[in-house]
Amino acid sequence: MKYPLVEYPFSKSDLSSGRRILSKGKFITMNKITKQFEKKFAKYLGVKYALMVNSGSSANLLAFFALINPKAKKRINFKDECIIPSICWSTSLWPIVQAGLKPVFVDVDLKTFNINLNDLKKKITKKTKAILTVHVLGNSTNMNELKKIIKQKKLILIEDTCESLGSKFGSKFLGSFGRFGTFSFYVSHQISAGEGGMIVCNDYNDYKIIHSLRSHGWDRGLNNSKKNSFNFINSGFNLRPMDITAAIGLNQFKRLNKMIQIRSSNRKKIVNSIKSSQNWNDQIEFLISSEKVKPSWFGLPILINKKYLNKKKKYLSYLNKNGIETRPIISGNFLNQPASKLYRLNAKKETFKNADEIEKRGFFIGLQTKKIDTNLVKFLTKKLLMIDKI
Ligand SMILES: Cc1ncc(COP(=O)(O)O)c(C=O)c1O
Repeated sequence: MKYPLVEYPFSKSDLSSGRRILSKGKFITMNKITKQFEKKFAKYLGVKYALMVNSGSSANLLAFFALINPKAKKRINFKDECIIPSICWSTSLWPIVQAGLKPVFVDVDLKTFNINLNDLKKKITKKTKAILTVHVLGNSTNMNELKKIIKQKKLILIEDTCESLGSKFGSKFLGSFGRFGTFSFYVSHQISAGEGGMIVCNDYNDYKIIHSLRSHGWDRGLNNSKKNSFNFINSGFNLRPMDITAAIGLNQFKRLNKMIQIRSSNRKKIVNSIKSSQNWNDQIEFLISSEKVKPSWFGLPILINKKYLNKKKKYLSYLNKNGIETRPIISGNFLNQPASKLYRLNAKKETFKNADEIEKRGFFIGLQTKKIDTNLVKFLTKKLLMIDKI
């Protein structure tokens, strides 16, 4: 592939950090390095607590199972409603359903790809208890407006930040506004540990709950317990990461700011080159970050001009054949997915116009974490502008 979604993500020092853990033999499972990574992550994000898990999906699962937990301070109950944007990832959604809550879908904004706040206000009922916002591909909605709604209606905010580690709204990092923020370290995300994720919060009671739920429901590792305690204080899963992945993730985390900068500069090079090309004819549009957002880009999201909609399939296949890997905008309108039909998530047959439009017109390509050269920029410019010619 000439321009894959992700290039090989690990540096020599990432690999030797992982190898060092392996060669110690004893503690390849969750241990001291996981704790170190958690501390650094919390400090960076400006939150009190961070807990590492084996994936971003697990982080979302913990957030919702913490909210319904008997030990939760502001607990939510079976069949309470949780609002979610119709453009989301599958495991942004399923933890809501798995926790026995009712997902209520809201359309997204065509400009930001994020939850549409006007539509959201209309969907709030007496049963609404929480909002899960998904910060799509490095961008976000207006967090000041969202915070106002949360406060006025006394709702709980969870931020699925799996695609937006390092993005800021104003002076605060995305993921640090809500009761829980979740992150993914899967390959192609802002940092990669192979697999892995993080969940953050500011309340010690919430932290204690997710800490026990992560690991069988026991209290081992919490301040009040003995190191090898078999004291089970809550229900539980096993969502633990390994120290090997923590070591790789922690080592990459040191390069996060640099990688954000390079991705942003690569994005500028590609967009500027396309827009100043003699072949430029408004064939495509680019996602622009929302006001006040300082994005940590995940990829380069693109909408094709409506004129060429009937050519999208041919165009994507052309790009792929020419070595440019493409992906849909997350999963498109999730309500169009077979799994949504299986669980009858849209029994009222509502339409989500913007999510449908993004699904029809949108796709994204990768943004490399190493500086790209002029030849590659020229190649991408030429190929991406071919939609009116094929
Ligand atoms: C918005 C969003 N949430 C959750 C996830 C799940 O993360 P993971 O793959 O680490 O389970 C992803 C994965 O890409 C995602 O894009």
